[in-house]
Amino acid sequence: MNNLSPDQIPEKWGDIASAYGDAFEKLTSQFADDVISRLSPKTGESVLDVAAGTGSFSLAAARLGADVLATDFAEGMVEHIQNRIDKALMNNIKTKVMDGQALDVDDASYDMSVSIVGLIFFPDIDKGFAELRRVLKPGGRCAVVCWDHPENFDMMKLLQQSIAIAAPDFEVPTQTPVWARMVGEQALEERFQQAGFNKVEVCTIDGLLTLDSVEDFWSVFIASSPPMISLFAALGKENTERAGKVFVELATDNHQKQMVTLASKACVGVAYV
Ligand SMILES: C[S@@+](CC[C@H](N)C(=O)[O-])C[C@H]1O[C@@H](n2cnc3c(N)ncnc32)[C@H](O)[C@@H]1O
Repeated sequence: MNNLSPDQIPEKWGDIASAYGDAFEKLTSQFADDVISRLSPKTGESVLDVAAGTGSFSLAAARLGADVLATDFAEGMVEHIQNRIDKALMNNIKTKVMDGQALDVDDASYDMSVSIVGLIFFPDIDKGFAELRRVLKPGGRCAVVCWDHPENFDMMKLLQQSIAIAAPDFEVPTQTPVWARMVGEQALEERFQQAGFNKVEVCTIDGLLTLDSVEDFWSVFIASSPPMISLFAALGKENTERAGKVFVELATDNHQKQMVTLASKACVGVAYV
């Protein structure tokens, strides 16, 4: 477990499953919808969701009648999905704790394999692609979503500005986040090609997170992913509170704006075996 970043440790994700869902599912469910429209899962088809998180893609595919296995390496995430399945009384979706780099799934056993902003965290991203390919039947299809280059994402800009104003002496870590090792269409396409996929198609889509209340968003955002927890632990309680006030002011333009939408972009790749 040496040299792993917090977002490569299962317990760190498991502990924050609900906060992750509250902060980001409105955003990542847009990527799930896009993947659904490209792969068109149907009744009787089998779908493997790798690094499924709180399960928005898995649940959407199962609602269309596909037989889904939702997997994640974090027990807390898998329990979260299982609770949603139990509440929805669905019987065509199963869950299992699995590392996406070593899936406990037979070769050539699924019609579709998917990882939405998931395998970008794996220590070995190529192994993640190889596993997504290995589990597919001949003719099977795969989708992977990663982020586009993040420099212009509203959320990142606002966060950096807020910390710089609230705590000018705080040194924001300059290390590249693990998920930024593969960003943009070209990098995504290359990884698919290297893994031996065919008919690779990639595109960039908008991800728009519309917030009813920026205050409420901030309160879950600061605990919504392992890197956020590390960042705000280092920043300290008082600075975090100050940064939160600045974040709200900047996002709402000093309370002039009622409705706030934070824009980001993701890259979606679809390929075949
Ligand atoms: C940003 S979330 C994405 C979740 C979900 N796919 C979505 O669209 O919201 C990243 C997920 O990757 C999972 N993850 C990270 N490394 C993993 C690994 N090696 N194997 C399986 N899951 C992993 C985390 O537990 C977390 O649920």
